[in-house]
Amino acid sequence: MSLVLITGGLGFIGSHTCLSLLTKGLDVLIIDSLVNSSKENFLNIKNLVKNNYKPQVGKVFFLKGDLRNNKWLDEIFKKQISIDNPIDSVIHFAGLKSVEESVLNPIKYWDANINSTLSLLSSMEKFNCNSIVFSSSATIYKPVYEGRITENSLKEPINPYGNTKNTIETFLKDLYISDKKKWKIINLRYFNPVGAHESGKIGEETVGKPSNLFPILGKVISGEMENLSIFGKDWPTKDGTCVRDYIHVMDLAEAHFSALQFLKNNPTQFKSINIGTGKGYTVLEIVEKYSKLNNVDIPYKFSDRRSGDASSVVADNTLALELLNWKPQKNIEDCCVDSYRFLLNKLSKIK
Ligand SMILES: NC(=O)c1ccc[n+]([C@@H]2O[C@H](COP(=O)([O-])OP(=O)(O)OC[C@H]3O[C@@H](n4cnc5c(N)ncnc54)[C@H](O)[C@@H]3O)[C@@H](O)[C@H]2O)c1
Repeated sequence: MSLVLITGGLGFIGSHTCLSLLTKGLDVLIIDSLVNSSKENFLNIKNLVKNNYKPQVGKVFFLKGDLRNNKWLDEIFKKQISIDNPIDSVIHFAGLKSVEESVLNPIKYWDANINSTLSLLSSMEKFNCNSIVFSSSATIYKPVYEGRITENSLKEPINPYGNTKNTIETFLKDLYISDKKKWKIINLRYFNPVGAHESGKIGEETVGKPSNLFPILGKVISGEMENLSIFGKDWPTKDGTCVRDYIHVMDLAEAHFSALQFLKNNPTQFKSINIGTGKGYTVLEIVEKYSKLNNVDIPYKFSDRRSGDASSVVADNTLALELLNWKPQKNIEDCCVDSYRFLLNKLSKIK
């Protein structure tokens, strides 16, 4: 049985990916510092695996710690080899992800995202673990005004967060070039991950002020925010509000399983692949669908455009469909309904 190391595995996308891998029989070792998640998620994953799925599921382990602690990381790789259960591949989610915070505190972001990746890759190299799937982002692309974004579209991030993702991709490419017979590397460039597992037990937790649409909808519905600010109503789109490509987090989780399979079954390589649905929805369309499907009120107001926003960010996902034997299974309605179910579950615990 092969062991997959999942860094940041208790976070939003990591927890759903752990679930997906475990139900396919893979063993998973999670490392997470809990800087943006809680240990409760580990119990949630274990319970979901135990209650909802077949008996032949994988085993899950969790170690709390920061990836930047390289000595500790080396010990983990070493110990796994000594017990004859080496780490065979890595999915690297751990990192900080708030665009706004990265603008205010670039040192924190460069340190967290770059140094943790350097530490991870140096341990991987030392202990001959050469397969990695990295969480990259559509924020590395230059904000464009029309058309779908392909992997060859211009990369020109406009904030420190995007710069760290772009830099890590460059670093991984350098590593691959240093020994093309050694490394298997895939950068998955996510568009807008949303939704939650259908159980409503795991989903997106936001510490602090959210800046993405779905977490903001959650805060508005729960009364923590008065209304939703829609930035700009004169964009060149069908209703004047921005268009985004929302991908259900379970589809995204499945893309990681497919990427691991692809690396396992193919020779060494370096690839960057967009993970989105290829379909865009405006902010107003989402507000309308979310409130209608879940029977909730979502008060909103229009504000000025935000600097750096693009009118439309939609993936050309042809490469993912061709290479990964993967296709999104969920639609925008699932995204709205599943995300609301998770919200209700969370609010019922607070009461
Ligand atoms: N959610 C999105 O919209 C989105 C879009 C594109 C890319 N990404 C990338 O995907 C990855 C996962 O995103 P997410 O939404 O699940 O974020 P998240 O914050 O929910 O999960 C990240 C996890 O990593 C952990 N972590 C952070 N720094 C760490 C460190 N140094 N050592 C150990 N653990 C650490 C956090 O505690 C958290 O559990 C991130 O790298 C993010 O940049 C996210």
